[in-house]
Amino acid sequence: MSKKLYIQTYGCQMNQYDSERIAQVMSRNGYVQTDRIDAADLILLNTCSVRDKAEQKVYSALGSWKEYKDYHEGVIIGVGGCVAQQEGETLLKRVPHLDIVFGTHNIHKLPELVAQVESARARPVEVTFYRDPAYMEDVDGRTQVHGSKAYVTIMQGCNKVCSFCIVPHVRGREVSRPSAKIIAEIETLVVQGVKEVMLLGQNVNSYGKLTPGESGFAELLCRVDAIDGLERIRFTTSHPQDLSPELIEAFANCEHLCEHLHLPVQSGSDSVLARMRRGYTQQEYLDRLMRLRDRCPGVALSSDIIVGFPRESDAEFEQTLELLQSVEYDEIFSFMYSPRPQTVSAKLYDDDVPGDVKRERLKIVQTMQRGITLAKNRQRIGERDEIFVDGPSKLKNGQLMGRTRTNRIVNVVAPEHLVGQMVPVKIISATANSLLGELLWDKFNLESQLEGNRA
Ligand code: SAH
Ligand code: F3S
Repeated sequence: MSKKLYIQTYGCQMNQYDSERIAQVMSRNGYVQTDRIDAADLILLNTCSVRDKAEQKVYSALGSWKEYKDYHEGVIIGVGGCVAQQEGETLLKRVPHLDIVFGTHNIHKLPELVAQVESARARPVEVTFYRDPAYMEDVDGRTQVHGSKAYVTIMQGCNKVCSFCIVPHVRGREVSRPSAKIIAEIETLVVQGVKEVMLLGQNVNSYGKLTPGESGFAELLCRVDAIDGLERIRFTTSHPQDLSPELIEAFANCEHLCEHLHLPVQSGSDSVLARMRRGYTQQEYLDRLMRLRDRCPGVALSSDIIVGFPRESDAEFEQTLELLQSVEYDEIFSFMYSPRPQTVSAKLYDDDVPGDVKRERLKIVQTMQRGITLAKNRQRIGERDEIFVDGPSKLKNGQLMGRTRTNRIVNVVAPEHLVGQMVPVKIISATANSLLGELLWDKFNLESQLEGNRA
């Protein structure tokens, strides 16, 4: 009988991809994934330490699994991802019932580590960083595909020096996968029915820069764009400093590249940006956006905002609000600053903006953005668009949900078999969170009839 693997994933898309890879790697050792922790032989926690209290969350999850382990002999518990990388040995010392700690570069080592526990009840820690991208490849390539969308890691790590950010410390320096491997992986995915890929990296714009002879990011996008059968390409995340003219041209020229860019600004104040060591001013950021909007009108924009960075004054905070009003993002993700271990800002500055001021600023940012998003969504009422149907709506009202190329969520009453399909809709109403659409059946029927005639 096959053994069961339960994975709990915290954090970003990168971690979701890593969890898929963990499942794939362990499947070669006879483990089948389960979503029931009480059925698991191997329990893995894939962690994120980017913001706030990440470590406590991990310790508390592990604490809650102790009893399960006490009553189920032979169960193995492991922790991977950024917290594992950061804490290493300490995790094993503090959690006696933990068996394995594996870092962000060590997923390929997992079968070996599990075997060590199984045979010797050893408690291995593996947190080595590699500079050779081979650690990101699986011997038999990508074998597990779920649905019509897929994440594809193109690079890992980050060479930027944003003062608040723990990522370079826990994911290491930038390492790019060879473009030939990326293209081959996407071609395989397409054969297996994938229509949309999300290219992942901490700073995808730097793709290939450190590898002599490798494609740059814009060139990689063009090569992915040429893959037959692939309908949509997305990517995340980009650092504003590296939004190159070539990338802007890719938005204008690559047919399948979706018109959406996540370009985190963090703050609208030049002095805060300098303390954050982001390497651009508000004006430089806006100039780049203007060039992008010029070449790709209608491009949707999203951003990350940090409020309450050390010493952030009311006047500096106001500049973030002004920036939000002038850019009119389609969506933002906003966070209260939290000092992270090893980071420059944690070493240089006291976390001196009081908690209630941070909370208040977060509320102001979110309320303002809600108004902007709602107004933008309302402007779309009456428009025709095409959505890629993901599955049941989060509203749990029997509707399906999909996304436009500009990454707007559209809920729609539609039959289940349209999941995984591109479907034409008309937008009939809007909230700040999503749009409501109605199926353009005529066009849809017409197209399927045409397909039928062609077949
Ligand atoms: N380039 C990365 C950024 C990772 S962190 C990516 O792939 O998304 C994601 C976001 O978390 C950052 O853009 C920032 O807004 C927020 N963040 C990072 N460190 C933070 C900290 N110490 N406190 C609050 N927010 C933080
Ligand atoms: Fe973090 Fe800045 Fe890199 S936010 S991931 S150090 S671009």
